[in-house]
Amino acid sequence: MVPVMSEQATKTRTSVSQLRCIGCGRTALPDRFRCEHCRDLLEIIYPGWEEHGPAGLSAASLKRLWRDRRSSLDSVDQSGVWRFREILPEIPQPQIITIKEGNTPVYELPHCARSAGIRQLFAKHQGMNPTGSFKDTGMTVAASFARQAGYRWVACASTGNTSASMAAYAARGGLHSLVLIPDGKISWSKLSQSLDYGAITCQLKTDFDGCVRVLNEVVERMPVYLLNSVNPYRVEGQKTVAFELLEQFDWQVPDHIIVPGGNLANSSAVGKALREMKQLGFISRLPKISVIQAEGANPLVRTIRENGGTTLIPVHAETMATAIRIGNPASWKKALRVINESEGTVEQVSEIEMAIAKAEIGAEGIGCEPASAVTLAGLKKLVKNGFVKPSESVVLVLTGHLLKDSEFTLKFHRGDLFAESPGTETDELKANQRAPLILEPSVDAVVELLRSAEK
Ligand code: F0G
Repeated sequence: MVPVMSEQATKTRTSVSQLRCIGCGRTALPDRFRCEHCRDLLEIIYPGWEEHGPAGLSAASLKRLWRDRRSSLDSVDQSGVWRFREILPEIPQPQIITIKEGNTPVYELPHCARSAGIRQLFAKHQGMNPTGSFKDTGMTVAASFARQAGYRWVACASTGNTSASMAAYAARGGLHSLVLIPDGKISWSKLSQSLDYGAITCQLKTDFDGCVRVLNEVVERMPVYLLNSVNPYRVEGQKTVAFELLEQFDWQVPDHIIVPGGNLANSSAVGKALREMKQLGFISRLPKISVIQAEGANPLVRTIRENGGTTLIPVHAETMATAIRIGNPASWKKALRVINESEGTVEQVSEIEMAIAKAEIGAEGIGCEPASAVTLAGLKKLVKNGFVKPSESVVLVLTGHLLKDSEFTLKFHRGDLFAESPGTETDELKANQRAPLILEPSVDAVVELLRSAEK
């Protein structure tokens, strides 16, 4: 007789996760962030899935279970991350810190599609998370893990969104948080978030890459848990964006998914999710996953174009999209693997191309922060060079909310953003600028304005 395993027994066995080095492939490593043998990054694997599937359930059963949880009143089910907990590391429910992250909308962008030269374009808007960026989906998992492991302090180096998210989750979970940010190089809104959520916030007189170097030494000396994206638990949480997207597409695979690239953990997470979905039988093919960087912060583009991805070419990063002002991305190898196995590509865009794309996404009534808009700017180039066909379906992952960087938006519309760069006042730029109008407080003046706007 075949022994019948109880659901609980199966669940316990299949949810157990392990750390594996992405370089040498060693497993069962201690809970650190780099392999003690070859210093490469670690990723989380679930050996029990091979035999039984996540929680011992088939893809069809999981699809049903996750959909049913959408109507649950349980707070963990209401999280758009923990709703998919069968594909995440197991954390006891009382330890879970959730602010009801995930469950983000997919919007169709018909005008942007036309501008890019394709028939249908969608945006998965991760800026609609509780702290306004995609970071929340990873933070709920990694912060919960920190609490479960008994840490009292968490820390990150950040270009602003990770710090805002970490500070919020630490506060919700009763943890102390330390934020290191580059002085003067992150948006005020993001800085204000970490202050309001109660983090100890340090502005270091260096760039993001310099903040990472300092923090890596601090965590060696103090019992502080590192919540940068080298933390593989963050990547696990960030995977859920792809599961949720595919669910929203009724498990029909889009042809392309396009993500912005900074430290390159997000592209890695999206790719890992799709690889797992294919292995588990949720989908039968992979979409092409492409990464777009700003021209001034393009280490992955240079690495792929100049040496085929053999060694990283770090750069001194400069871009007004401060979120992705990163010259030495930690997760470049993971992202490279995703691009290669999905047959995606990389592209870079200028500051003007990004700014125009951001205004176009705003004009659809959606909006996003500058770093997210590189996706649309990059798509236009990928259509022009034939990598994306007009008939193909494309999803842009918008990573941050419009209000994350109001200063950029105001400067753009007032015409100040490129004021110091001669020769940049193009017609396309002007056509997208909508400066505020200053009028006398007179009815006639407003009516006259409306009449001329109607013409
Ligand atoms: N978009 C936004 C809005 C971001 O904040 C970031 C990264 C990215 C894209 C790039 O994602 O690093 O996974 O490739 N922000 C980090 C931070 C670095 O500290 O907030 P990535």
